[in-house]
Amino acid sequence: MRGSARDSACVRARRSSPRISPKLDSQVSTRKKTFPEVQAERLEQAQRTVLINCPAKINEKKILKYLSRHGKINHHYFYETFGTYAVVEFSEKDSIASLQDVTQTSGTKEECPVPFKSRLFTLTLKNPSTQDADQAPVHCHKQSTILLNDLVRKLCSSDSVSNQLYTLMNEYQLTEENTRLRFLVCSLIQDIARAYFPECTVKPFGSSVNSFGKLGCDLDMFLDLDEIGRSSTRSKTGPFNIEYQMKRVPSERIASQRILSVIGDCIDNFGPGSVGVQKILNARCPLVRFSHQPTGLQCDLTANNRIAMKTSELLYIYGSLDSRVRALVFCVRCWARVHGITSSIPGAWITNFSLTMMTLFFLQKRKPPIIPTLDQLKDLADAEDEHIIQGSDCTFVSNLNKIKLTENTETLDVLLSDFFEYFGNFAFNKNSLNIRKGKEQNKPEPCPLYIENPFEQAHNISRNVNQGQLNRFVALARESAWILQQEDKGHFSLSNGQPWGLAALLLPSVTSNSVKGKTQKRASASERIKSLMASLQGNKENNLVNNGGKRTFSNQA
Ligand code: GTP
Ligand code: MG
Repeated sequence: MRGSARDSACVRARRSSPRISPKLDSQVSTRKKTFPEVQAERLEQAQRTVLINCPAKINEKKILKYLSRHGKINHHYFYETFGTYAVVEFSEKDSIASLQDVTQTSGTKEECPVPFKSRLFTLTLKNPSTQDADQAPVHCHKQSTILLNDLVRKLCSSDSVSNQLYTLMNEYQLTEENTRLRFLVCSLIQDIARAYFPECTVKPFGSSVNSFGKLGCDLDMFLDLDEIGRSSTRSKTGPFNIEYQMKRVPSERIASQRILSVIGDCIDNFGPGSVGVQKILNARCPLVRFSHQPTGLQCDLTANNRIAMKTSELLYIYGSLDSRVRALVFCVRCWARVHGITSSIPGAWITNFSLTMMTLFFLQKRKPPIIPTLDQLKDLADAEDEHIIQGSDCTFVSNLNKIKLTENTETLDVLLSDFFEYFGNFAFNKNSLNIRKGKEQNKPEPCPLYIENPFEQAHNISRNVNQGQLNRFVALARESAWILQQEDKGHFSLSNGQPWGLAALLLPSVTSNSVKGKTQKRASASERIKSLMASLQGNKENNLVNNGGKRTFSNQA
C-alpha cells in the first residue's frame, strides 16, 4: 500500500509481474488494488510455487539452473526452520508438473511412503564428497522477530517516540517472504482439499493478511466452498431443471464440521510436513489446528467463516489508510504481550483482535478523526460492495481510492500517550465500544469489557475478558500514560542510555507485577532488566532501584 514498508520489501524481493492480463493490469495500475485483488494475485502466485528442503550449503546458481530446466523461475529465496528451505516461484504452473515428473519417491525397509505427490520436495547432492568445495551457505531470510532485549536496545537509539513506534513496526511486521510462505501453505492445503472439492479455495485471513500481522503469528485459513454453489447458473431455456443430488444436513455448521473432519484426516494422513493435527469441531467456529513444520507456522483451518474474511478486509483497509494506524496497533499489541495482558493460550485475556478494535476506536475518536467509522465506509460502497453474510450486513467500500484521507496531523508520540490516558479512564463499567458508529454506547449486557463485533452487533468480541484482566489493562494503561507524561515534563533523564519512551514502556511493570502478585515473575523481570541495562551501558554493573513504584535506574554498584 501507499508508501508502506511492505511495498519496499516487495521491490527488494524482485517481485515478478503479476499474472493477470495486460489489459486488466493497466486498469489496476492507476488505482490501489482492492483486498480481494491482492489476495487473488498472491494465491495464484502461490500455486506456481514449490518448497524444497535443501542442504544448508549449496551452490545457489547451480540449483537455479537445475530447476530452470522445468521452466522460467520468477522469484526465489531461502529460509531456515528445521532445515534449510528454498521457496521457488515458477513463471508457469506447468513447470511444477514437469518437476514432479522427474521426482522420485523413496522409502526404506522400515518406512513406507504415503504416495501423495505434493509441492514439497527434498533436494540432496548426488556426490556430497566431490561436490563439497562448490557449496556455500545461502542467505536466509528471517522468519521471526528479534529478541525483546535487542528490540529495546534498538528503540533506545531512536530519536523520538514516533520513530520508536515505526522501528517496532518495521521489526515486527510480516515480511514479503513470510507473507508468500503463508499463501504457499494455504495453497498446499488447497491441493489436499481439492481432491474432494475441485473448485474450493483456501485463503488466509486474520493477521496474516489484515496488515497487523507480526512475524510468528498463527496462520488462520478459510476453506471457501462458496464458488461450488455459485457456478451452477440455472438454465433459462428448455423444459427441465437439473440439480445435483447431495447429502443434506440440518445446518451449515454441521456441514462445516463434517467437511473439516475429513479434510483434517487427509492433512493428518497425507499432508507432508503437517503434524499435531487436532480437530476442534465443537468450538464456536469449528476448526482443524496443526503445525506446518517446514514453514514453522501454526495453522487454524476453518470453513464457513466469510464474516471473518470481511473483517480482515475491513482491518486491511484501516491499516492502509494512514501509516500511524499500523504503527499504533503494533505498539499496543507488543506492549500488551510483554506485560501478559494478551497470551497465546486461550483464557480470560484481552485478545489481539480486541486490542486492534480498541485502537481503531480510539483513532475514530480523535478530532479530526484519523480513520472513518464503518458506517461512513458503508456510505461509500458501490452496488458490487454489497454483502449480506448469514444475515449480517457486511457492506463497505472496497476501493481504497474513494476514501478521503484524514486532515489530522497528530504525531504518534501524542497518540500513544493519549491512547493510554483514554483507556486508563474509559467508563468500561457502563459503555461499550462500537467501531461501526465510532461512538461509545450503553452496554447491552453486564460484562467487564464490551466491544461490539462490527458485523454481528449482538456479539461481544471480548466476552471472554474477566474483571481482573480488565483491571490489569487499566492499571497498566495508567502507569504507561504516567511514564510518558513524566518524560514529557523532563522528569526522567534521557541520557546514560536509560530506556526511555516506548522502550521504558516495554520493561516489566511494578504495577502489573503487584496486580499479579507473583514474586517469581518479579524476580525474573528484574533479571531481564539487569541484563538489558548491562548490555545498554557497556556491561557496567547495574542495579534496578524500585523508587516507590516508579521505574528508575541507577548504575551505581
Ligand atoms: P493474532 O493471530 O493474534 O495475530 O491476531 P488475529 O487477528 O489473527 O486473531 P485470531 O487468530 O484470534 O483470529 C483470526 C480472525 O478471526 C480475526 O482477525 C477476526 O477476524 C476473527 N475473530 C477472532 N476473534 C473473534 C471474535 O471473538 N469474534 C469474531 N466475530 N471474530 C473473531
Ligand atoms: Mg491469527
